[in-house]
Amino acid sequence: MSQTLTILFIGDIVGNPGMNAIRMFLKSFIDKHQADIVIVNGENICNGKGVTEKEATELFNLGAHVITTGNHIWENWQARPLLSSNPMVLRPYNYPPGNAGKGMTIIELPHIPPVGVMQLQGRTYMQSIDCPFRGVDHAIAKLSERTPIIIMDFHADATAEKISMGWHVDGRVSAVLGTHTHVQTADATILPKGTAYISDVGMTGPYDSVLGMSKEIALKRLLLQTAHKYEMAENDAKLCGVVLKVNKNTGKSESIEAFMYPKMRTSIHE
Ligand SMILES: [Fe+2]
Ligand SMILES: [Fe+2]
Repeated sequence: MSQTLTILFIGDIVGNPGMNAIRMFLKSFIDKHQADIVIVNGENICNGKGVTEKEATELFNLGAHVITTGNHIWENWQARPLLSSNPMVLRPYNYPPGNAGKGMTIIELPHIPPVGVMQLQGRTYMQSIDCPFRGVDHAIAKLSERTPIIIMDFHADATAEKISMGWHVDGRVSAVLGTHTHVQTADATILPKGTAYISDVGMTGPYDSVLGMSKEIALKRLLLQTAHKYEMAENDAKLCGVVLKVNKNTGKSESIEAFMYPKMRTSIHE
């Protein structure tokens, strides 16, 4: 039996174009990599705002085991009953107590060891929620009672805060995978003590856009310096994420590979 677990993590799914990319490409990625575990970030599915029961059910049917979210989950009232009722749909752990939902869970499947999943959110340029560094220590203490395999979605804006988190938990979790900024970074690595790290896994959604939103509206907001209602973009949907190989016994990562499909056009000859 293989000593490594293959984990597929998919970055922020944005709107219907993002869901269409999932419908078109996810299964072939699961098959190609023979993924044991699939985790997706669903914070932007409903026109950029959260995820509800309907989309969550479809994602679970398409192979997801856990859905993480982020700051935009709170803008969708219909997401709250989902957070309260389904322990496989997470919101960041370090929101103040009293909010709906949970920030960590354990995936238990036959024939593979338990896999812990947790999500924390950064504070730099974001809401002033509880400290993610103290929060992650508490979450690791809980999850590591059950398993050394722990995947962390760090939903944060500032790369410095994300990189700092990587150093803070190196050797204590299997992977720190950045979400929220929607642009895949070229810094995927294995840190010295065995934690896989990437500052952002990238958006699953329409790239003919500004981070998934209409580029016309985004430009208007910048050029006119007044509020204009965001609209979803539609075209050039891509699937973004990482494939992790994790040692089943130690929880250390052996490799991390970022992917974007279809890849960006980088030549006029493509
Ligand atoms: Fe997002
Ligand atoms: Fe976000």
